[in-house]
Amino acid sequence: MASHSFLLLATAILAAAFSAARGCTPSDRAALLAFRSALNEPYLGLFNSWTGANCCLNWHGVSCDATTGRVTDVDLRGESEDPIFEKSGRSGYMTGKLSPAICSIDTLTTLVVADWKAIAGDIPPCLTALSSLRILDLIGNKLSGEIPADVGKLSRLTVLNLADNALTGKIPASITKLNSLKHLDLSNNQLSGEIPQNFGDLTMLSRALLSRNQLTGLIPVSVSKIYRLADLDLSANRLSGSVPFELGRMSVLSTLNLDSNNFKGLIPSSLLSNPGMGILNLSRNGFEGTIPDVFGSHSYFMALDLSYNNLKGRVPGSLSSAKFIGHLDLSHNHLCGSIPVGSPFDHLEASSFSYNDCLCGNPLKTC
Ligand SMILES: *[C@@H]1O[C@H](CO)[C@@H](O)[C@H](O)[C@H]1NC(C)=O
Repeated sequence: MASHSFLLLATAILAAAFSAARGCTPSDRAALLAFRSALNEPYLGLFNSWTGANCCLNWHGVSCDATTGRVTDVDLRGESEDPIFEKSGRSGYMTGKLSPAICSIDTLTTLVVADWKAIAGDIPPCLTALSSLRILDLIGNKLSGEIPADVGKLSRLTVLNLADNALTGKIPASITKLNSLKHLDLSNNQLSGEIPQNFGDLTMLSRALLSRNQLTGLIPVSVSKIYRLADLDLSANRLSGSVPFELGRMSVLSTLNLDSNNFKGLIPSSLLSNPGMGILNLSRNGFEGTIPDVFGSHSYFMALDLSYNNLKGRVPGSLSSAKFIGHLDLSHNHLCGSIPVGSPFDHLEASSFSYNDCLCGNPLKTC
């Protein structure tokens, strides 16, 4: 027993010494160089450090496992505090594409190629074979084509950030299999089709950002099962139907942006009475009926924007008992009657209430 563990220890030490002396494995080094050769970074000389036999030593953005000498992280950010950017006085810019050569580094846990503005081409489908991947962050490039259909194979993934690209096609159904995913950002692409019905299977999610796409259909009711979800942004899509009442029952949801869609029906009272809701934007939809009179001393809104809808009736009296309303916008509706009096209204300007049918009272003209 003792000699067995001694042998294991000795082997580990030998392996470590061996890999430290040898540097990164030649196949990982070759993959990195192939990855680099498909990219063109004209201003910073970022890849000048990618030289020499040991890719684990001082290669910008590359990290390795010290014992195995295998590459674990490729972290290339076009906007960062790194002195290399300060010296050049500009943010990152790269053209070229993401070479599938990177997929042979099967020990990768982090792949960040972010904010380079002009890296084009598709997301190499073979990335979904990187089964150790925890962070995939390709924000701020010009990537096109579809999100790989089998992205759900990346079962360790905690961060998937593909925002600010030119991706098309649907959100793959397999995405709902990513049961470690905490942060999903697909904002500002050209994604179409519906949000998968079982989106709520992503129970670890705390942020789901899908804004500025061309998504259609309804908000899946299953979303309300994601009990860690704090931030849901579905704004600027083509979503329709009514908003599930259950969304307002979510205990940690504090930011909900549904603005600039085609939602209609009544505003669920649960959204307005939820004490955790801090930012609620329902602007530029077709919400109808009256504003539920369900505010109270638990209400604490940094921003409450209900502008550009078809709301009628009065400004709810209970709003005057809210603890705090930082920014209120009820403009461009069909509200009528006198604006309640109270401390939450003291700092508000006329623009919060303008373009309604017949509102009156401070800060508008007296009734
Ligand atoms: C709400 O959304 C609208 C439309 O997308 C936007 O113009 C407005 O600034 C947002 N309101 C707040 C408070 O952020």
